[in-house]
Amino acid sequence: MPRVQEKAKILETHREAEGIHRLVFYAPRIVPTARPGQFVMIRVASEGSDPLLARPFSFHRLHKEDGLFEILLRVVGTGTRILSQRPAGSVLDVVGPLGRGFSLPSGPHETVAFVAGGIGIAPLWALLDELTAKTHRNRTEQLHVFYGARTRAELVPLTPLKRLGVHLVVSTDDGSSGEAGTVLEALRRRYEGGSGLPDRLYACGSLPMQVSLARWVSGRNLSVEMSLESMMACGIGACLGCALPAVNPDDPQAERYVHVCQDGPVFDPRRIRWDKIQPIMARPLTFASL
Ligand code: FES
Repeated sequence: MPRVQEKAKILETHREAEGIHRLVFYAPRIVPTARPGQFVMIRVASEGSDPLLARPFSFHRLHKEDGLFEILLRVVGTGTRILSQRPAGSVLDVVGPLGRGFSLPSGPHETVAFVAGGIGIAPLWALLDELTAKTHRNRTEQLHVFYGARTRAELVPLTPLKRLGVHLVVSTDDGSSGEAGTVLEALRRRYEGGSGLPDRLYACGSLPMQVSLARWVSGRNLSVEMSLESMMACGIGACLGCALPAVNPDDPQAERYVHVCQDGPVFDPRRIRWDKIQPIMARPLTFASL
């Protein structure tokens, strides 16, 4: 996929939940080839040098006919705070689309589960849009979305998700909305309670969620793709800062690394050596945490 550097204009900004903002960008050169699961690097400051680095953000929604993409960001540091405060009309340097996105189900017969922890709903939504678009409309009852957050205030508005016609299971750690407990507990209740496993599972969320989910799917017979994040300074394979330890199929004892920005960010979690990952290597939020 050709990547493009473009001056992208912010058309809209919305506060979606506590500390979570949605920004709509006009980027008619980046959007046409963008795929759910891919990401962009956004230089947060339009002038000056603070913060120096660009930040990675996955595509939250894509509106190809209008040349628009959306990101969902959680404010956790200087870069995300500055970006969340950029007014509509700001023009920022954006490079994308980058990385390898989600693959699609092989046909409408497949049942699919989506597991989104917190801001992890961001990249999964673009995929949901694609799978519920007109050409796939007859399959929405086979799409099960598990969406969890710590508390009700951190859930993005649910009405647009419900309008997609999918089965939506909401959970919050404190029980303030939906089922009480983590999103993985909600997933287990469904699939360990007699319902057959889905054919395919897509996931994105915190590092503890990723580790637990990787353990849960290990040895189970279903296709799994998980959007991961690592320390990303360049997004294009130049800095080598995003390497994660991976399984070496030729020699399990030998070290092997994958680069999240180029080999991913979407991986089968069974390819990753979770036992060798330090918390600093894989940040607990997806493409919106810096
Ligand atoms: Fe620089 Fe991946 S972010 S190599």
